[in-house]
Amino acid sequence: MLYRTASEIDFSVDELGVMDLPAQVLMTSPEFFDVKYVINPHMADKVGTIDYAKALEEWQIVQTAYEQVGLNVHVMEGKSGLPDMVFCANQTLPYQLPGHGGNGVVLSEMYADERRREVGFFREFFSALGYQTLSLGASETIHFEGMGDALWHPGRFLLWGGYGFRTDLRAYEIVSDSLHVPVCLLELTDEDFYHLDTCLSILDESTALIYPDAFTPEGLEMIRAVFTRVLEAPEAEARNLFACNAHCPDRRHVLIQRGCNTTNRLLRDADFIPIELDTGEYLKAGGSVFCMKQMFW
Ligand code: ARG
Repeated sequence: MLYRTASEIDFSVDELGVMDLPAQVLMTSPEFFDVKYVINPHMADKVGTIDYAKALEEWQIVQTAYEQVGLNVHVMEGKSGLPDMVFCANQTLPYQLPGHGGNGVVLSEMYADERRREVGFFREFFSALGYQTLSLGASETIHFEGMGDALWHPGRFLLWGGYGFRTDLRAYEIVSDSLHVPVCLLELTDEDFYHLDTCLSILDESTALIYPDAFTPEGLEMIRAVFTRVLEAPEAEARNLFACNAHCPDRRHVLIQRGCNTTNRLLRDADFIPIELDTGEYLKAGGSVFCMKQMFW
């Protein structure tokens, strides 16, 4: 159930279990958002540079954009001393078992010590909704950063699993075994693209937006084997504007950092509707739209 190369792919996407597209969005309020330490290259010269008023305004615009595309936004309060908690894609991997077989989350084992305490708040939030919460439960520490690295194939019971910087390859053996889900493994090769959601945005069942140089040749070949349409963001937009951290929640609208002009042209030519947002304060911490929310059922 773990796939590493195109030649190993023995399924076609339309044979895989069907999942609903999630309609619930979780965001963490940004009053304690900051850059206080450096755990990815984007943060390197950004400690102490956050404009808090601007960060709040940008966050509210992202929230409104989700409401405008018809999703239901839940807000969890940010916590003092956890400046990265606003990036709420990272602490869990929500799942829905095929055939409505139950909802749950896999809890992350954060790579950075500074972020480990975030996870408990998400365990509480999802438990209160009646979600099952699964820990990796390994005897040694295996890192896993939730939907920073593990991305659902929209509408299908298939995961794309990035590893190399924040998530250990072995995490996917556990996730695949516990959920009985196939996982296509993608090794990440460029530290600016330290999470899979910085270089792969899965727009719909057949379309992916990628930054190709962040992958190995085997990974790229596998992406091209599964997706019939692969859009490539240019380097400056991917590296500096997080173009591939765009998010398409409904197979049509794509919420994306403002200024990704070439990427937006590719999106429009493929019949998507880009919705440009400014996440400039969050880019300083190494995140944009996709990282600022968690989708669940
Ligand atoms: N400063 C955060 C970190 O390095 C940013 C996380 C961004 N999230 C993401 N899914 N890429 O952990």
